[in-house]
Amino acid sequence: LIKKVYETKPVDQTVIVRGWIKSLRQSKKFSFMVVNDGTTQKDLQIIVDGTLGNYEEVVKLTIGSSVEVEGLLVASQGKQPVEMQAKRVHIYCLNAEDYPLQKKETSLEYLREIAHLRSRTNTFSAVFRLRHELAQATHQYFSNESFAYLHTPIITASDAEGAGEMFRISTLNLDKLPRGEKGAIDFKQDYFGRETFLSVSGQLEAETFAVGGLGRVYTFGPTFRSENSNTARHLSEFWMVEPEAAFFTLEDNAQLATGYVKHLIKHAMEKCGDELEFLASRYAPENLKTLEHVMNSPFEMVTYTKAVEILQESAKTHKFEYPVSWGMDLQTEHERFLAEVYFKRPTIVTDYPKDIKSFYMKLNDDGKTVRAMDVLVPGVGELIGGSQREDNYERLTKRMSDLKMDPTNYWWYLDLRKYGSVPHSGFGLGFERAVMYISGMTNIRDVIPFPRTPKNAEF
Ligand code: 4AD
Ligand code: MG
Repeated sequence: LIKKVYETKPVDQTVIVRGWIKSLRQSKKFSFMVVNDGTTQKDLQIIVDGTLGNYEEVVKLTIGSSVEVEGLLVASQGKQPVEMQAKRVHIYCLNAEDYPLQKKETSLEYLREIAHLRSRTNTFSAVFRLRHELAQATHQYFSNESFAYLHTPIITASDAEGAGEMFRISTLNLDKLPRGEKGAIDFKQDYFGRETFLSVSGQLEAETFAVGGLGRVYTFGPTFRSENSNTARHLSEFWMVEPEAAFFTLEDNAQLATGYVKHLIKHAMEKCGDELEFLASRYAPENLKTLEHVMNSPFEMVTYTKAVEILQESAKTHKFEYPVSWGMDLQTEHERFLAEVYFKRPTIVTDYPKDIKSFYMKLNDDGKTVRAMDVLVPGVGELIGGSQREDNYERLTKRMSDLKMDPTNYWWYLDLRKYGSVPHSGFGLGFERAVMYISGMTNIRDVIPFPRTPKNAEF
């Protein structure tokens, strides 16, 4: 692997590498090929002498062709500390002439149309190695904090957010499908006669394991939302990390979230320095400095009421598209203003009005606000949403009936408030938004392998 070559730098030794040609310069006497196998940001330069046996094939190679090269590794004055002098070149596949990634720089918009090929670019291989490391860091962090990884179901009858933004599941009735005939498929059947949906969040199921069961659990899985938002930060299918802990107050929750985000940054810097540097140089020059600062300073904490005052005061000098008043949900521009312009750091907003938050959040003594928290970060806005949960049976059932929710789908959830109920809290981090934040990429479609948006489900 080319990653191993750079880790061990076996100078003066003969090694074999396999990969794809990134760029090349050819002449009758020499060929310079730049090769990568995807395991590292660093390409390997290979020099092929014109006297090599199959040189007439080597000069026909093109960008994107796949090769195996055996050669001598030597120290180099070039961009990388080592390069290779080829002794043997085996060609797996001479790339087809209509290869869409010939040009050095291609726009991100264009690359979204060829999502099956974009991992071959430096940008996307960097983003997805980073994404992998952030997933590793997630498991590390929660495991160290004694949280057990819980796999919650994707098929469910309940709406965890109570927002009605769900995809319904129907069964393809094969009995009624005459062979070879189109248009006769019966999609009307529900999941074995029951109305079910793709999960919007694993929270409710995670709560059942946190309270009275394992104490501390986290989920990390795909979640689905049918909201028709075509923005740079919304997907119909995204991955969410949701810890849930018994005996946790909102303050404990905020501390856990702060520690988690800082751990993600620290791990990324340790494992993906080359990737972060490359992405910063191309898309966000200040990114590394900013991340370092975030890692080493406390997050801001402010109540919703105070945040609204700040925004109203700031509206005198800063132009917002939407006016702010107590009781309304903050828009992305407000979230970003608070984190980016006003506090200049990740900001945790707490105690939102109950009417703009989900049914399960714990009511404050004022009867108007709930123990909610959103973590807002520069460049992205809302990265995390969480809360202390309502643990009182009467108050929760009253809230659900005020919202005209059907309790039949939630009886099991209500049981938790009867059997050994305790204060407990949790949050959900949008994994793609975390990748955006740390990579500096500005469109959520560019940090998930195959984005699912209202306009895209092709491949
Ligand atoms: O704020 P949300 O809706 O909270 C929940 O789902 C809770 N049940 C979490 C919990 O307490 N266990 O979503 C949590 C996070 C958001 O802060 C955002 O980062 C991300 O999930 N998110 C989305 N990411 C991409 N596309 C969407 N459509 C998203 N909706 C939410
Ligand atoms: Mg939210």
